[in-house]
Amino acid sequence: MALRIDIVTIFPAMLHGPFSESIIKRALDRGLVQINLVDLRDYARGKHRQVDDAPYGGGRGMIFKPEPLFEAVEDLKKESGAAAQVVLLTPRGRLFNQAMACQMAQQEHLILLCGRYEGVDERVCTQLVDEEISIGDYVLAGGELAAAVVAEAVIRLVPGLLDEEALAEESFAGSLLEYPQYTRPPVYRGMAVPEILLSGNHAEIAHWRRRQSLRRTFEKRPDLLKDAKLTPEEELFLKQLAEDQQ
Ligand code: ADE
Repeated sequence: MALRIDIVTIFPAMLHGPFSESIIKRALDRGLVQINLVDLRDYARGKHRQVDDAPYGGGRGMIFKPEPLFEAVEDLKKESGAAAQVVLLTPRGRLFNQAMACQMAQQEHLILLCGRYEGVDERVCTQLVDEEISIGDYVLAGGELAAAVVAEAVIRLVPGLLDEEALAEESFAGSLLEYPQYTRPPVYRGMAVPEILLSGNHAEIAHWRRRQSLRRTFEKRPDLLKDAKLTPEEELFLKQLAEDQQ
């Protein structure tokens, strides 16, 4: 069954671009995913269709009111009839990663709520939302671009879209950074492609690539190494890298 993703926002037009190109478009065209951009104002009441209000207790800015968000989510859940995972995009959420994308790609229905302003009424966070997600330790003007990031990471994992073997390899490589890649020409402006890649020796190439991944991860993202599945030989290689650094 196709994965349904509803994105609830006060700026639906912000999300027309990201879903009309490339791999996401292919997933949509092939019916593997369905994306609905839901205008939160459609669920707002009154002449001004107000979605926000001042915070109780005082303070800066405006807060999303609970009623439109509750009513939107209830409506969307009823429409799909499937168990939905409700996610709020917010800088105070759990840091998004590949494992979370994999988990979300298994769902039938995702509802992504894009926060704005100074925040969202806490009753939405505690009673309506299953998970708060942040895409990084910086503050965006709202959750729309974060929702696009999450949706793209999830959609490329939807079964039937990409080569399953490549995805499996990606998840096996898991917590290591990618090794360097080259294509023709073999020498460009005096910069040569590493000899080994031209050797045709597949075992040695695989070994070299793995070492490059380890080295890169060690240099740029040592925090990832604690989750990596390493052979004793690779552990030793890392130990040597650490010693060389001293
Ligand atoms: N909204 C504002 N900043 C955000 C972030 N870093 N991640 C998710 N949603 C956000």
